[in-house]
Amino acid sequence: MNIKVSNKVTWVGKLDYELRNFHGDQISTNYGSTYNSYLIQSDKNVLVDAVYTPFANEFIENLKKTIDLNKIDFIIINHSEPDHSGAINQLMEIIPNTPIYCTNSGAKALKGQYHKDWNFVIVKNGQKISIGEEEITFIEAPMMHWPDTMMFYLSGENILFSSDVFGQHFADAKMFDSLVNECDLFAETEKYYANIISPYNKKAAKKIDELIQMNLKIDVICPAHGVVWQKYIQNVLDLYKKWTNAELENQITIIYDSMYGNTKKIATAINEGIHRANKGIATVLHNISKSDSSNIITDVFRSKGIVVGSPAVNNGILNSVAGILEEIVNIDPTNTKAAVFGSYGWSPKPIDNISEKLKNAGYDVNLPVFKCLWAPDDARLEEARKFGEDIANSLL
Ligand SMILES: Cc1cc2nc3c(=O)[nH]c(=O)nc-3n(C[C@H](O)[C@H](O)[C@H](O)COP(=O)(O)O)c2cc1C
Ligand SMILES: [Fe+2]
Ligand SMILES: [Fe+2]
Repeated sequence: MNIKVSNKVTWVGKLDYELRNFHGDQISTNYGSTYNSYLIQSDKNVLVDAVYTPFANEFIENLKKTIDLNKIDFIIINHSEPDHSGAINQLMEIIPNTPIYCTNSGAKALKGQYHKDWNFVIVKNGQKISIGEEEITFIEAPMMHWPDTMMFYLSGENILFSSDVFGQHFADAKMFDSLVNECDLFAETEKYYANIISPYNKKAAKKIDELIQMNLKIDVICPAHGVVWQKYIQNVLDLYKKWTNAELENQITIIYDSMYGNTKKIATAINEGIHRANKGIATVLHNISKSDSSNIITDVFRSKGIVVGSPAVNNGILNSVAGILEEIVNIDPTNTKAAVFGSYGWSPKPIDNISEKLKNAGYDVNLPVFKCLWAPDDARLEEARKFGEDIANSLL
C-alpha cells in the first residue's frame, strides 16, 4: 500500500496493526505502529529510510511496483536502528551501488550492524543538496535518540522528515493527523517522547530551539513512526518545546509494589494525604507489577512529583521496583521532586537506598524517607497521610 503525502512524496512504509511491544517487551504499543519509508520523486529519486527486517520482502515487492529500483538515485537513512534500516540490507543486495546518505555516526552504526561496505555519503549539519527544483537541508540531531539521528528539510514541498522525533506508535491507514482520533494521537505522542527521547531531554531541548530558530516553512512533518503531521504541526512543536524544557504537569505519580499489602496501605494513605492537602494536584497510583511499565514511565515523565515505595526484601527491594527505578534514573529529573516510602521487618536500609538512588540521579528528594516497621497501624497510617500532605505542600 502506498499513500500520497504531497505532490512529489509518497509513503511506501509498513503499517503493523498487530505490534503490541517494541524494543523487546520494554514499550507497549497498544495501537500497533508504522515503519515509515518515503519516496521522493523529482529530478532525482530518493528513498527515505526503510522498514523493520521482518517486513523486508513485502517492502521491496511494494517498492518495485512503485519505481524501478535501479532508478533510485540515492537512499537517505535518517537513523540506523533496525526498525528503519532492517530492510536496507536486503534492498542493497538488489541495488548494491546505490549511495546511502547518512551521518558519520550513522555509517558507523550501519557498518556495525550489517558488516557491509556500502557506498556511504557522509552528510553534515546544515549541508544542502539539490534534487531538482527542490533542495534538501540536512539537520543532524545527535541523541534524539541515537548518536546518528538526523532529520532533513525538503524545500518546495516544505516537508520536514524528522526520523523518530515527533513519532508515535500509532497505526492508522488514514495516515494524517487530521483524520485520526486526536486524543489517542497526542497520548501516543507523549508516551513515545517519554519512553524514547526524554532520557536525552537536554540535547533535545537545544535541537528543538535550533529547529524553531531555523524558521523553516513547514507544511508537513513526516516522522519515522505513526501519522504524518499537517494540521497539528504547531501543537506538536509546542509540546516538544514544553517537554524538552521539563515543564511538568500538576501531578504526583505514586508507584509501589507490595508482598503482603503493607506498602500498598501506605501508598493509599499517602494518596489520601495529597488530596487532603487540597492543592488541586492530580494523582496516579501504579502498582508496578500490575501496571504497564511504559505507561508508568509516561506518568513519571509528566509529573512534578513522584513517590516510590517498596518493602524490604532479602536485604534489597522488590525486583519490580528495582526494574522501574533503572528507567526512572535515566529520565531527565529537572524540576521533579521525589519522595520514598516502604515497609520493613528488621532493617530499613534498602528503602533508604531508593532515596539515595533518586538523589544521585538528580531528583529533588527533600523529605525524610517514610519507613514503617511491619504493618502500619491506624496511627502510622495517619502519619502516612501527613507525609502525603507534606509532599503536596513541598510541590508548590
Ligand atoms: C521473603 C522476604 C524477605 C524479607 N527480607 C527483608 C529484609 O531483608 N529486610 C527487612 O527489613 N525486612 C524483610 N522482610 C520483611 C518485610 O519487609 C515486611 O514483612 C514488610 O512489612 C512487607 O511489606 P509488604 O506487605 O508491603 O510486602 C522480608 C519479608 C519477606 C517475605
Ligand atoms: Fe529509533
Ligand atoms: Fe524508530
